[in-house]
Amino acid sequence: MTPEKMSKLHSTSEANHRIWHAHEFSELLSLPGVITEFHAHGFAIARVVDTEAELLMIVTETIKQNTGLATNCLLNIEKKLSQKGAQKLTLEVSESNSAAITIYTKLNYKKIAIRKSYSRDKNGKFETALVMQKDLRPN
Ligand SMILES: CC(C)(COP(=O)(O)OP(=O)(O)OC[C@H]1O[C@@H](n2cnc3c(N)ncnc32)[C@H](O)[C@@H]1OP(=O)(O)O)[C@@H](O)C(=O)NCCC(=O)NCCS
Repeated sequence: MTPEKMSKLHSTSEANHRIWHAHEFSELLSLPGVITEFHAHGFAIARVVDTEAELLMIVTETIKQNTGLATNCLLNIEKKLSQKGAQKLTLEVSESNSAAITIYTKLNYKKIAIRKSYSRDKNGKFETALVMQKDLRPN
């Protein structure tokens, strides 16, 4: 998927955060350790450094939301990250992002920190962010 398509898809996801430009996706994709999972209507991007990974973005376009795409996308990227040696996956989510929090909780991510007035919504207003983490090691 091209950075342009990623930016377009991001803009059709009704995200409550700022939409990234194609050049931002392009720069991100060029970083070492970046892992992607693409499907026709969405994508996920993560980065692994040694045994730790971070989820940087997960998006499904609005017309395909609530059909399980992001859940599958996240499960697939978890597998790829494990294969690269990641033992835990950390992410940050705005506390108002109920759909995303539903997925993360369902997939066994645990809240490890709260960052008050940390991230900005699409209107520039500060929001509280939750930091969540999942142990990727097999039981
Ligand atoms: C968050 C996002 C990626 C979810 O994508 P999706 O493909 O719709 O996700 P899924 O269909 O796999 O799962 C969505 C879950 O949220 C639930 N959900 C949807 N809206 C909800 C709400 N307002 N409150 C609580 N749960 C909600 C759905 O019921 C579903 O749970 P279920 O499978 O237990 O029924 C998508 O909404 C999106 O692209 N949002 C904008 C970008 C974003 O905020 N990304 C996350 C931070 S980077």
